[in-house]
Formats: sequence, structure tokens, C-alpha cells
Amino acid sequence: MKLQAIILTSVLAFSGQLMAGDAGAGQSAFAAKGCIGCHGAGGVSVVPAYPSLKGRTEAFVKENLANFRSGKRQNPTMNAMAAGLKDADIENLAAYIGSL
Ligand code: HEC
Repeated sequence: MKLQAIILTSVLAFSGQLMAGDAGAGQSAFAAKGCIGCHGAGGVSVVPAYPSLKGRTEAFVKENLANFRSGKRQNPTMNAMAAGLKDADIENLAAYIGSL
């Protein structure tokens, strides 16, 4: 049992390092940057106007945040939200949302 726990912990730690984004930092940013206010705790929105993000893949979130930031995808609210995101923020947010 103890050995299994140690192995599992090592595997999780190792796979975490392989991921480009840091889901823990992404979770903090999701709250600190106000995403949670519209998209809801755990990415489950309670407001119909705002889409739930739970179930979206890391790749989808990364691509769409980059597109909102560049203006390739147009939405005044999200264009403004993404404008201030650094590449690392996008990586971390995508890792977090992709894990939901
Ligand atoms: C003021 C409300 C609001 C805030 C705050 C907000 N969003 Fe959004 N978000 C929206 C709306 C509205 C849409 C739908 C845009 C559209 O229809 O194209 C959206 C769409 C998205 C999408 C695409 C979802 C899809 O299914 O296509 C992602 C990803 C996303 N937001 C991430 C974030 C992140 C990350 C943050 C924080 C940095 C954030 N949002 C903050 C309102 C908000």
C-alpha cells in the first residue's frame, strides 16, 4: 500500500513536469484573474451567457485563449480578458481547465 502510494506520487510528479503548463498555478490564476466569476467554480458556469469550460481540452483552451488575445476569435469580453495574459498564463490556465 505504502509502496503503491510512493510510486503513484512519483508518477504524478513526473507527468506533471512533462506538461507544459502548471495546473496549480492555472487554478490560482483562474480565481485571481476573475475567470471564475463568469465561468464558475471548477469551470461549471451557472450563468447561461457564459460557457462552462469543464470538459474542454488543454489544447482547445490554449488555442482559443491565444486566438482571443490576437483577435483572431472575436468576442469583446474575452478579447479584453485575454489581452493581459502572458504565454505562461495561457499555458497554466489551459493545463488547469484541461484537467477539470
Ligand atoms: C465577464 C465574463 C467573463 C470573464 C471574466 C471571462 N470570460 Fe471567458 N468567456 C466569456 C464569454 C461570454 C465567452 C463566450 C465567447 C464567445 O461567444 O465567443 C467566453 C469564452 C471563453 C472560452 C472559450 C470557450 C468555448 O467553449 O469556446 C475560454 C477558453 C474562456 N472563455 C476562458 C476564460 C479565461 C481563462 C478567463 C480568465 C482569464 C475568462 N475566460 C474570463 C466570458 C468571460
